[in-house]
Amino acid sequence: TTTIGPNGQSKPSALTFERHAKCSLARAHSPLPHGSVPLPIFMPVATQASLKGLTYDQLRDTGCMLCLNNTYHLGLKPGQEVLDSVGGAHKLQGWDRNLLTDSGGFQMVSLLKLATVTEEGVRFLSPHDGEPMLLTPEHSIGLQNSIGSDIIMQLDDVIATTSPDHARIKEAMERSVRWLDRCIDAHKYPERQNLFCIIQGGLDLELRKQCCEEMVVRDTPGIAIGGLSGGEDKQEFCKVVDTCTGLLPENKPRYVMGVGYPEDIVVAVALGADMFDCVWPTRTARFGQAILTSGTINLRHKSFEADFSPIEEGCTCTCCLPADKGGLGLTKAYMHHVTAKETVGAHLLTMHNVHFMLTLMGRVRQAILEDRYPAFIREFFSKIYQGDK
Ligand code: GUN
Ligand code: ZN
Repeated sequence: TTTIGPNGQSKPSALTFERHAKCSLARAHSPLPHGSVPLPIFMPVATQASLKGLTYDQLRDTGCMLCLNNTYHLGLKPGQEVLDSVGGAHKLQGWDRNLLTDSGGFQMVSLLKLATVTEEGVRFLSPHDGEPMLLTPEHSIGLQNSIGSDIIMQLDDVIATTSPDHARIKEAMERSVRWLDRCIDAHKYPERQNLFCIIQGGLDLELRKQCCEEMVVRDTPGIAIGGLSGGEDKQEFCKVVDTCTGLLPENKPRYVMGVGYPEDIVVAVALGADMFDCVWPTRTARFGQAILTSGTINLRHKSFEADFSPIEEGCTCTCCLPADKGGLGLTKAYMHHVTAKETVGAHLLTMHNVHFMLTLMGRVRQAILEDRYPAFIREFFSKIYQGDK
């Protein structure tokens, strides 16, 4: 694969993409610098170079081949100098598999009320010392070059999907294209770090179409669909994903950013998407919520006080697997007991939820490879809507 720069120069890239199957529109593929990545994939989010609730050996045990860090957070702390002197984020956190970094703009706009966007970049006040700061496309790529992540994201202009301001949505889409050109120009290591563009355009399918056309000619190694995950309704979500995937090249991974509910992932895969990330499975674990094949349950609920069944029957995570099979054989009653107040409760449930998400993706992949994804989807939804909750 090559990346075409803004002046038409060709840059090498580190991503190869193998297509293994096609079933409806769902696909299954793979390789990156720190190990082969089977697609479709769910990527757990380790915002601050740590996955809340799991050590990296536990994360590795779940089979995770690719997780997320955030440029905005790592750029503030430990900062570029420390990242350069330690030799990047893999070394910093002791993770020898793949990393993807989000560019920082989205986090700033979603976390900081005072962030303002101009053509130059995103201006904000440092949450550490209140100093005015500016994140430009060049600065974001420079930080991601120091982080050394295997997949890096362009800086994009992100606004709420539910924004009624059409002119602003159009401006953000067009600016994201201009910022992509600046990112491609600034990128120092295209042979080992894969730069992904991000399609914007809100819920306007015509803007999405124009954005796809502009982004596709830049020929980045992968393509993200941004600006979803903002509470838009499911029908709009599906229309945007379907419109974009229909216009994107078949031979490049498509990443739907910030999406992590099992139902949304399973549907988006059918529409031709390959990569997903979300803090929800790990965050919700810290609130006592377990993700099951039949939906989610909150283990803090009193009804689990004396329930001696595993979190999920048949689950092979360390918590659920019976002791005679090498697991801990923990029950809902125990989880209920620890989940409200003990940190280990959050650790154990994070382990189960991450295992659930990665196992789900494994089943999705298998169904695609065996050319039975439509039947898989029907069974998946029938279990959620069985009404046993
Ligand atoms: N995470 C979730 N949505 C987005 C988006 O639109 N852009 C970026 N950069 N990150 C995201
Ligand atoms: Zn489990």
